[in-house]
Order: sequence, then C-alpha cells, then structure tokens
Amino acid sequence: MKPGKFITLEGVDGAGKSTHLDYLTDKIRSQGVELVVTREPGGTPLGEKLRTLLLNDPMQPDTELMLMYAARAEHVAGLIKPALVRGAWVLSDRFADASYAYQCGGRGIDAARLESLEIWTLSGFKPDLTLLFDVSPEVAEARRSQARAADRFEQEQVDFFKRVREAYLHRAEREPGRIKVIDASHSIENIRAELDRIMESL
Ligand code: TMP
Repeated sequence: MKPGKFITLEGVDGAGKSTHLDYLTDKIRSQGVELVVTREPGGTPLGEKLRTLLLNDPMQPDTELMLMYAARAEHVAGLIKPALVRGAWVLSDRFADASYAYQCGGRGIDAARLESLEIWTLSGFKPDLTLLFDVSPEVAEARRSQARAADRFEQEQVDFFKRVREAYLHRAEREPGRIKVIDASHSIENIRAELDRIMESL
C-alpha cells in the first residue's frame, strides 16, 4: 500500500483558505482518492475542545504555544498518521507552520522553543505540500467574515498580522520545495489554475 499524501493550507485569517479548501477537496476526491479533511487546532475530539479554549480564553503566549502542540500531538497520532498509513490523503486547514507564524511571528516567542516542541511531538514529520495563501493584512482584514463575532486571533490588529505574514514568507523562503506561495489577491479562476498546476506535480 502506497502511503497517502499530507497537504496543508496556510495563510493569515481572511486569506481565503476555506474557499480553496473546498475546491481542492472536490478535485482530490474526483480522482477516486480517499481524502480526510481536517483542521488545526482541532481534528480530534480532544483537539476540538482545546480549539474552543485557544480561540476564546485569554492565556499566556507560552500556554497558547503548548496547547497548540498538545492538540497537534493528538491530531498526528490519532488521525493524520493512521490515515496516511492506510493510503488515504489528508488535507489539513493549518498545521505546524501556523505555530511558527502566529506564536513566533505574531506573539514574538523565540523560535528555539517551538523547535524543541517540534522535535518532541513531530520528530521530523512534515507535510508533503503546503499551500501558503499570501495576501496583505489589509486585504485580509476586509475579507474576514463579519457574520460572526471575531475570535481571540481575529481580534488582533494589523501589525500582528503583518508579523504573521512575514514569518510565513520567511518559512517559505527556507523550504521552497514544500511550501508553495500563492498570491491570494488574484482572482479565484487564476488561483484555481495555479492550484491545478501545483497538484499535477503530486
Ligand atoms: P482558523 O480560523 O484558520 O481555523 O484558525 C484558527 C486560529 O488559530 C487562526 O487565527 C490561527 C490560529 N492558530 C495559531 O495561532 N497557531 C497554530 O498553530 C494554529 C494551527 C492556528
């Protein structure tokens, strides 16, 4: 049995990930591949409880980072790896690059702390492909849903999202083979054409 592929979607809040996630889901499933669609923080019963805390309860940046990794440890062991081993593909709305962008970039936590958590919980496990939807914080802010109350992250100011974006782009520069940067200010048609091209290579 060939192991499945692990694909993650990243970007600042409001970059349009959800729309593209639906497109990719349909595209992959139309190839007859078993696909597990999941998200972080979350993806397991315990992870979803941690998500509720993370998105709503005030906490220290270190607490936030460690809870993200606690949820991730559950997610990887309980859902992602078993799916990949049985040959399914996994599409996750965010993964470890988000911790680097939000907790290190946004909150200012030293990257060495994150790296030690990464070695501990992931031991080198990485997505096969990461799609980074890149857009300016100003455009992202205008796009963010007004339909529901903003969560703890969405309430942050533009400067926070500028740092998050820079950290994402820095990560992409370091790992250009895995992380593909997509200009999310383009039209949906252009973005879909680019996604089609990238997915061909998988
Ligand atoms: P979502 O709104 O895209 O589902 O993500 C929930 C929020 O959690 C989003 O604002 C980014 C944040 N987040 C982190 O700060 N660090 C992480 O490691 C992850 C996975 C998400």
